[in-house]
Amino acid sequence: MVDIGVDALTRSAPALGEWLADRTVFVLTSPRLLELHNSYFEVLGKGAVRYVRLEVPDGEEAKSLAHAGSLWETMLAAGGKRDSRLITFGGGTVGDLGGFVAGCFLRGIEYVQVPTTLLAQVDAAVGGKTAIDLKGGKNTVGLFHHPRRVISDTRLLRTLPRAELRSGLVEVVKMAALLAPELLELVESRLDDLLAGDPHALAPVVAGAVAAKRGVVEADPEEGDWRRILNYGHTLGHAIEGVLSYQGLRHGEAVAYGILFANRLARRRGLDSEFHERLRRLFLRFELPLLPRLDPNVLWDFMSRDKKASESGLTWVLPRALGCGEMVAGIDRQEVLTELASFLHEPLAQLLSA
Ligand SMILES: NC(=O)c1ccc[n+]([C@@H]2O[C@H](COP(=O)([O-])OP(=O)(O)OC[C@H]3O[C@@H](n4cnc5c(N)ncnc54)[C@H](O)[C@@H]3O)[C@@H](O)[C@H]2O)c1
Ligand SMILES: [Zn+2]
Repeated sequence: MVDIGVDALTRSAPALGEWLADRTVFVLTSPRLLELHNSYFEVLGKGAVRYVRLEVPDGEEAKSLAHAGSLWETMLAAGGKRDSRLITFGGGTVGDLGGFVAGCFLRGIEYVQVPTTLLAQVDAAVGGKTAIDLKGGKNTVGLFHHPRRVISDTRLLRTLPRAELRSGLVEVVKMAALLAPELLELVESRLDDLLAGDPHALAPVVAGAVAAKRGVVEADPEEGDWRRILNYGHTLGHAIEGVLSYQGLRHGEAVAYGILFANRLARRRGLDSEFHERLRRLFLRFELPLLPRLDPNVLWDFMSRDKKASESGLTWVLPRALGCGEMVAGIDRQEVLTELASFLHEPLAQLLSA
């Protein structure tokens, strides 16, 4: 059950109250959210027998085994039982960690996600994937544990910095371009309002992206081949993030470059130039941060080590036309390196503009 829109949290309050009535409820959040959205916490615990607030640091640092372990200890000491409930209130990091903690605690308790970033509303909170990070890699330990309900209140996005909104919007463009062309039109026509965090403009965009992602997830719940369509732009995007040690560019910003690069590979395979130009024009309006000079060989090594690369090599998600993508395996290393070298050495303006 996904409840999306302006004031979704207020609308969901009765159902939420019923779900947690007479139980112990844990609400997992971070200091930044407590500071910005303190008033919402009253709604969350209403009707619970016991209401325990759990806090983890903001950002990726929260997704560690150490934090998961200390949350479990706290929950147990606070009288957590199999019928206890957990609510996550935060971005994708809080949601991923909370889902993982709920999925393992006493072999699994029910939880609800209240995603507070655009990226979490359109992507992380949809699909039931939860995870923490190990030193050796992100999202390396986790499980599928579906939330009972996802409440995506776009009013929460008003406080989100523009760069975070931009990063989340790239994921929307990713889904729109390959799965929902009408959503792409909506993003193009309301971009200024979306980047300003207007909750009314964001509501239909979040709903459209969630519908697109759910369509894919429902067709492929255990992450077989089709779900990999959501990896559009992520092959190079993840490598850029990794090579930069997750500093300087946000996830979505790196993925935007990954999308532009995938489009170039696709153009060599017959993609029409209109699609390519359209996304370039759109990303130009995003005012992405510059891509630092990166070595194609280092990026290639990183891509080949990615956990999503199979034994037979890299699979690229490439657009075939608007609203249509395909998985392409076996692209020759030399072709990728040559294309990367020219991609990385083009001035940004040329890379992005028509
Ligand atoms: N499970 C999945 O399927 C899936 C899919 C995509 C991404 N993810 C995961 O999601 C994580 C990234 O999520 P994210 O981009 O939301 O990052 P995040 O949770 O780190 O949030 C980004 C920043 O925004 C702040 N913030 C959150 N809500 C805010 C609000 N309403 N107003 C102002 N500031 C706010 C946070 O404190 C943080 O500093 C990654 O760990 C990634 O692996 C998971
Ligand atoms: Zn992504």
